[in-house]
Amino acid sequence: MRVLVINGPNLNRLGVREPGVYGSNTLTDLEKDLLTFGEKFNSEVTCFQSNHEGDLIDAIHEADEQYDGIVINPGAFTHYSYAIRDAIASISVPVIEVHISNVHAREEFRHTSVTAPVTAGQIIGLGFKGYELAILALKDKIGGSRT
Ligand code: DQA
Repeated sequence: MRVLVINGPNLNRLGVREPGVYGSNTLTDLEKDLLTFGEKFNSEVTCFQSNHEGDLIDAIHEADEQYDGIVINPGAFTHYSYAIRDAIASISVPVIEVHISNVHAREEFRHTSVTAPVTAGQIIGLGFKGYELAILALKDKIGGSRT
């Protein structure tokens, strides 16, 4: 299985950004761990991060041809980007949404996800572990035919 892990705006600041909320590990730590995790589960993991909405949309479109599934943390775009929602709705590979923090225990504006309704599911508030669980969920969803 080929998985694209997409991280949106400000997630390149992991490690220095609000460590009380997001922890002290960096995006590089996360991506390294996911590559190793993928190998254990016979999955090829590729990671992409951007702070730009259009670049995220392009990556989602391209993934439809090149990957079997997507794990995405759209960052704050989760809460208002109809363009990212439409990009996810336009592709046919399954998408799992991940949030490191428990968005439901935070500010009101974080309680809404405009992207969630077009994803296969969400994993929220479990820290970096959420990305690994999302890879396993994709594997389960896609089935044994594309190991
Ligand atoms: C986040 C939650 C969002 O509300 C926030 O804007 C982020 C990160 C998370 O992973 O918890 O950038 O998606």
